[in-house]
Amino acid sequence: MSVETIQPHGGTLINRIADGAERERLLQLAEGLFQLQINSWTISDLDLIGVGAFSPLTGFMIEDDYHSVVERMRLADGTVWSIPITLPIDEAIAETLKYGEQVALVGEQDGVVYGILDVQSIYKVDQKNEAVKVFKTDDEAHPGVQKLLSRSNILLGGPIQVLNRPKPDKFEQFYFDPSDTRRLFVENGWRTVVGFQTRNPVHRAHEYIQKSAMEIVDGLFLNPLVGETKSDDISADVRMRSYLVLLDNYYPQDRVHLGVFPAAMRYAGPREAIFHAMVRKNYGCTHFIVGRDHAGVGDYYGTYEAQEIFSNFTKEEIGITPLFFEHSFYCTKCGNMASSKTCPHDKAAHMHLSGTKVRALLRDGQCPPPEFTRPEVAEVLIEGMKEPEYQV
Ligand code: ADX
Repeated sequence: MSVETIQPHGGTLINRIADGAERERLLQLAEGLFQLQINSWTISDLDLIGVGAFSPLTGFMIEDDYHSVVERMRLADGTVWSIPITLPIDEAIAETLKYGEQVALVGEQDGVVYGILDVQSIYKVDQKNEAVKVFKTDDEAHPGVQKLLSRSNILLGGPIQVLNRPKPDKFEQFYFDPSDTRRLFVENGWRTVVGFQTRNPVHRAHEYIQKSAMEIVDGLFLNPLVGETKSDDISADVRMRSYLVLLDNYYPQDRVHLGVFPAAMRYAGPREAIFHAMVRKNYGCTHFIVGRDHAGVGDYYGTYEAQEIFSNFTKEEIGITPLFFEHSFYCTKCGNMASSKTCPHDKAAHMHLSGTKVRALLRDGQCPPPEFTRPEVAEVLIEGMKEPEYQV
């Protein structure tokens, strides 16, 4: 039986990972180039561009693409793209660089040459405008805005080649490139695969919407984001342990694939939902779950804004099918998980726990109610919360 995979965004799965003799040649070339220090966020973007997770991007955005993405959520050629993927550099360094030159991209912590960039574009941007367009606010209390404003407003754009890959310190077996997941989904015989983004432990509401989706597709790609998140989000390490225990106990092993998404969290709500969907298409998903306040933070976005934003584009432009879910909860009268679409009861019957409340319970060594979190998951989280970073 042949199984067809979904087309990557833009039609071609980008591969800018140099190998063999070409890699050796570029590594040697890199020695003589300007050594531009890059941080872990940029290393992650670089690698995701290299493996094609950000297809059709072949490098950090040049000026035309940047403006087009910020103003109209499209690359300059019209392809849907909602989040700028950029490389900030110090003004003093920018002044020494010339168009057409190549620079080596070197990890600021470890001195590893992660890649090479062809300098096609050096440009200054209006970060406030970017904040308002991308995050819908320029409030510095917003973690994405804060991050943006802490970076230089001079950007370097151009195609890249990856020469070394970042090495995960844990859970290496859950790192898959888009070419790997595409192959795996085919090997599993999955014609339809739903992608699930999360930066949290999987609570019952997450499980409910995943399993509702699993009723209509062949497989679930549980794809937790494990790149940089804000400090009060639960660490990727603890979350990974919680996903494993949950899958072991409550999911059919042959219908779920767990693989991490090593990207930084932007907290851009609606725009990030589009970005998350495009990237999951590149990983080979045919469907993508967008629930309540996807990629949101605080009160910056309306509950369903991340769903509504999809109506700006045609089905063909998006390619992947978004599956929208209402706010889900446990209803004590129904005696099961539900949403306003399926439950007739009053709010008083619905269990609600804020993320802050759940974290406080876990820190105190208490399990949230089983209607909210599976006890096996709660146990792992309680254990994880004993680590020093949570004892503040
Ligand atoms: S996110 O920032 O990664 O989107 P989170 O891990 O909380 O945050 O959510 C993962 C996915 O589950 C998102 O699509 C989100 O909209 C959805 N989601 C989370 N909680 C609920 C809920 N109670 N009801 C419906 N959807 C939800």
